[in-house]
Amino acid sequence: MKPIYLDNAATTPLDSEALRAMRPYFRQKFGNPSSIHPFGSDARQALDRARETIARHIGADYSEIVFTSGGTESINTALLGVSLARQPRGNHIVTLPTEHHAVLEVCAYLERRGFEVSYLPVDPCGRVSPDAVRDAVTEKTVLISIAHANNETGTLQPIADIARIAEERGICFHTDAVQSIGILPVNAARMGVGMLSASAHKFHGPKGAGFLYIRKSIEIYPLLRGGPQERNHRAGTENVPAIVGMAKALERSAAARAEAETCMRGLRDRLWNGIRDRITGAHLHGHPLERLPGHLNIRFDGVSGQTLLIGLALEGVAASAGAACASGALLPSHVLTAMGLPPEEAMNAVRLTPGRQNTLREIDSAIRIIERCVRRIRRCSKRA
Ligand SMILES: Cc1ncc(COP(=O)(O)O)c(C=O)c1O
Repeated sequence: MKPIYLDNAATTPLDSEALRAMRPYFRQKFGNPSSIHPFGSDARQALDRARETIARHIGADYSEIVFTSGGTESINTALLGVSLARQPRGNHIVTLPTEHHAVLEVCAYLERRGFEVSYLPVDPCGRVSPDAVRDAVTEKTVLISIAHANNETGTLQPIADIARIAEERGICFHTDAVQSIGILPVNAARMGVGMLSASAHKFHGPKGAGFLYIRKSIEIYPLLRGGPQERNHRAGTENVPAIVGMAKALERSAAARAEAETCMRGLRDRLWNGIRDRITGAHLHGHPLERLPGHLNIRFDGVSGQTLLIGLALEGVAASAGAACASGALLPSHVLTAMGLPPEEAMNAVRLTPGRQNTLREIDSAIRIIERCVRRIRRCSKRA
């Protein structure tokens, strides 16, 4: 049987038009965009066009887009860049315990360097209250970093309300939009954020490319030094083919966005309804409504998430764990425990994320396979 890929939050298949757009920049148009000869100017023009496309799609100015190697680098650049640039003014950062590790580990590093970080509580659906953000900021707060959508549960945060608070207090607000861009409308100006991180491979672009939106008025210290590229914000020769592919993938995702959103929501809801109707003791994690259209984070009573994932993989269904592996030991998801789930329940979570390329047939087959695996695991654990 053809495998069923239900792990689109981890990565998405490359869009065929994005691949076609990238091809010439590997061989015929291989120039370095910093070179002044025609080979260089071909590559430079391609970068300029990609920057214009991305800026237009997120409501930014051309000069506000910095190309990076992906979400992790964008986030590191944003958090370290602003914190270090603003250190003379203050040393306090506000974030959530449910953020991606790219945010949490940079915050932990900054704490070791003398910063104070407030990790605000979230409700059982994973949402933070804007009032909690308002209460947490102080004269010393230089940065708020809160993701638009959570990668494990898909829960959305009240970004525009938080942006207003940041604006009133003159604090830089960064949002990690890695999971939402290409799926929901993401307009940096309308959201009111100061910085926004994105990664191409989450919206059917290539791996190893991303961008960081930095509002014109915001100054950052560059993370990578050694060249004037990206207006001195990020040294190093740009990955031209991947950037061209990223811009094309964003353009294509935006053109089909509303349709893709309806399709993903339909597939995700069919999957959940089918699971809930056929399997007892199934629980949904995350916000029932305010969440990404493709995210389904669930657990089954008495069924280890890891065992279920292995069973699904053996039957050709690709999904993700709700647990992380650290030094060979499985740990419950930091996202689910921060939402109040006991560790033993958080260990049972699995994440299924259909994408725009999945079919109804695949969803129906996946429901049958999940039912079979859950029954088998429950039977085996009763015998043990
Ligand atoms: C919310 C979120 N932020 C950041 C990242 C890191 O992105 P990248 O894989 O492009 O480094 C991911 C990747 O899974 C993510 O889901």
